[in-house]
Amino acid sequence: MKFFIDTANLDQIREANDLGILDGVTTNPSLMAKEGIKGTEAILKHYKDICDIVHAPVSAEVISTDFAGIVEEGKKLAAIDPNIVVKVPMIKEGIKAIKWFTDNGIKTNCTLVFSAGQAILAAKAGATYVSPFIGRIDDSSWDGVELIAQISHIYRAQGFETQILAASIRNALHIVRCAEVGADVCTCPLSSILGLLKHPLTDLGLAQFLADAKGMA
Ligand code: G3P
Repeated sequence: MKFFIDTANLDQIREANDLGILDGVTTNPSLMAKEGIKGTEAILKHYKDICDIVHAPVSAEVISTDFAGIVEEGKKLAAIDPNIVVKVPMIKEGIKAIKWFTDNGIKTNCTLVFSAGQAILAAKAGATYVSPFIGRIDDSSWDGVELIAQISHIYRAQGFETQILAASIRNALHIVRCAEVGADVCTCPLSSILGLLKHPLTDLGLAQFLADAKGMA
């Protein structure tokens, strides 16, 4: 399973990249706004800055909702860097645009996916990635990981090549469970990636080893 970081914060992207296990980045308009980025030029520059840190897929989301607007915006985003993946919402015009991008060699990430039916449509349109939002599903008392398992089953049965990108990850256990049920990618906040490191027995064991090593000096 690949690890993407789900942020537009350059310091966090650098920190995750320095770990050596980062395979890409996803952003969305809310994450970009959180960094205080305003205006088209600043937005395009910020995506370029991310691409210059991580030489791997970087999802940049369109804000248009009509076919022509999504295509125009997506072409501009794709021109920033060869690693840009155009992130398109799961709406009717979005599906049409994903098919257009697929036919024109532009990679896409179909976002705001909450059902298996939506995931089938994204795959039929040729999306490179499909992004089910598992944390938001959990928030409404459904099981987000079950959706990843269902999509994984369908994609394998049908031979779809779209990669399942589990998004809206809230904790380290989400990452483990997504790995179990066959997600191709998990996009996570830095805190959830670092959460994978944690185990009290590791800390206790290391403290003991270091104490014993002092006795040997
Ligand atoms: O980038 C999409 C997704 O990961 C959003 O997560 O935490 O806002 O539900 P969240």
